[in-house]
Amino acid sequence: MVILLTGGTGYIASHTAVACIERGHEVILFDNLSNSNSNVVNSLEQILHQKITFIQGDVLNTDFLREVLTKYHVDSVIHFAGLKSVKDGAELPIPYYDNNVAGTISLLKAMNSAHVKQLVFSSSATVYGYPEYLPYDEKHPTQPINVYGRTKLQVENILQDLSISDPDWKILSLRYFNPVGAHESGLIGERPNGIPNNLMPFVAKVANGELPVLNVYGNDYDTKDGTGERDYIHVMDLADGHVAALNYLAQSKAFQCINLGTGIPYSVYELVNAFEKACGKKIPMKISPRRLGDLPFYYADPSLAKQLLRWKAKRSLIDMCETTWKFQKTK
Ligand code: WQD
Repeated sequence: MVILLTGGTGYIASHTAVACIERGHEVILFDNLSNSNSNVVNSLEQILHQKITFIQGDVLNTDFLREVLTKYHVDSVIHFAGLKSVKDGAELPIPYYDNNVAGTISLLKAMNSAHVKQLVFSSSATVYGYPEYLPYDEKHPTQPINVYGRTKLQVENILQDLSISDPDWKILSLRYFNPVGAHESGLIGERPNGIPNNLMPFVAKVANGELPVLNVYGNDYDTKDGTGERDYIHVMDLADGHVAALNYLAQSKAFQCINLGTGIPYSVYELVNAFEKACGKKIPMKISPRRLGDLPFYYADPSLAKQLLRWKAKRSLIDMCETTWKFQKTK
C-alpha cells in the first residue's frame, strides 16, 4: 500500500516509516519541519538503503494535501502531525487547537475529496485523565486534564462522528502511553528542542554531560518506591503497532480507539537504574517538588490491541535505554 505519514520526519513517524517500508509498503513523508528537520530523511535512506519521498508542507494547506494524496495514489494515511507538549499546550492553546484540531479537519477534507478514506490517528493516553480504575482500558472515561489531551479527544470525537456518517471511512485511533527509545542503528531517535520535558531524553542528556542533574519530581507518591510509575513503550514496538493497525483497517467495522502500551509500569528510579546499566555511568539525581498535573500511576491494559491487531509490545526497558543511549551518542 501507499501510506502518507503526516508529521513524517517526527520521532514516532520516522520509526513507523522504517516498519512500514520493511513490510513492503511505499511511504510518503509529509511534514512542515516545525518540530523536526529534513536530515531525518537522509538517516532513513541510510537505514533502508532506498530513496524516501519527502514533501514539505502543512496539514492546514488542504488544497496542497489533496494534490499530494492524488499524485501519489495514497491508499491510507497515518496522521502524526501535531503539537505534543503538555506544558506548551497550556501556554499556547490557540496554536494547539489550530494545529491539532483544525489541522486534522483540513486533512479529512483533503482525504474526502481525494477519495482516500483509510486513516490511523496518533492519539494519546492523556485523553483519560485522573484514573477511576487502573490499568486504563479503552472503556475508561475520558476526562483529559490538559489542553494537549483535550485536542486529542476532540479529534477522536470528530473521527467517530465522521465514521458514523459515512461507513466507507475506516478509522482507528491509537492511544500511546510513554513512547521512548530509538531505532537500533542509532541514526534516528527522539530529538526534543531545548531542555526536554520528558524523563528519558532528560536522563540521556544527564548521562551525556549536557545537563548536570536529574530532578526527580517527587518521591513521596504512594507507589513502589515513591516515584511516578509510567508505561514506557519502545518506539519500534509502537511502530509495529501502526503496521498492525494498517493491516486491520480494511476489516475494521467501526471507529475504534486502541491503547498502545506494554501494561508494565516502571518508576523513575527503575528507569534511571536501567539507564545506568545501559550507559555504564551514574546519573546524579535531586529530589524536587512534584510537577503540577503529574499522577502517581499511568499504565495501559493492552489486551484490546492484542485481540484486534494481534500485536503485543516485546522490547524491554533495558532495550529502550540502550537504544536511547546509542542515539544520544550518535547524534
Ligand atoms: C514520566 C515520569 C515525572 C521528567 C508525558 C505527556 C504524555 C505523553 C508522554 C504525548 C513522571 C517524572 C519527568 C523529569 C521526573 N506525551 N519526571 N523528572 O508526564 O508521564 O507523559 O509524556 O503523548 O502526554 O504527559 O511523561 O516523561 O514527562 O514523566 O521525575 O525531569 O518521570 O514526574 O513521573 P508523562 P514524563
